[in-house]
Amino acid sequence: MRPLASEILITGDEIREKVSELGRAIAADTPVHGEIAALVILKGAFVFAADLLRAIPRRTRVGFMETHKDPHRPALTNFQFTHAFSIENSDLLVIEDILDSGVTMNRLLARLAARRPKRIRTAVLFDKVSQRTEAVQVEYRGFEIPNKWVVGYGLDDDETYRNLDYLGYVEQG
Ligand code: IMP
Ligand code: MG
Repeated sequence: MRPLASEILITGDEIREKVSELGRAIAADTPVHGEIAALVILKGAFVFAADLLRAIPRRTRVGFMETHKDPHRPALTNFQFTHAFSIENSDLLVIEDILDSGVTMNRLLARLAARRPKRIRTAVLFDKVSQRTEAVQVEYRGFEIPNKWVVGYGLDDDETYRNLDYLGYVEQG
């Protein structure tokens, strides 16, 4: 795909290779006759999830959750299922696009744990490790990336660029 308006950080081919690697790792850790309850965190994770889930040859249910983050009061991050999705006693796989401070993921995991899944695993494609303010549980991690505002492959800048085939970045300010 021809670049639209951002610099390339990770190519589409590199992402595809990594996603199939993650899919193989997740499958290897999932019983052949098991069932995964995959929870996709909207909107950013929709592209990653579509590719990742097709790389995991296991019986899978898919649910979606919206998060609304108040940048000034992260403790008040709001999570909402888009449709009813049962996670009690499930083999839950949380699929998230990117980790920054880690605050969103930790709030979410605490909320989900209260619903008593059998286990919770997390898959995160991009990780701004240098920005972490809280330790976060991540079983399947794609790429460590620098602290830039990244876009594409699901991630947005003001709701644009989500459809880029690669991970790019936009200059801030
Ligand atoms: P955290 O709570 O600080 O870890 O922020 C994680 C959330 O911030 C992600 O779910 C994204 O929605 C958003 N985010 C963080 N960095 C970026 C970025 O570089 N591009 C687009 N969204 C981002
Ligand atoms: Mg997000």
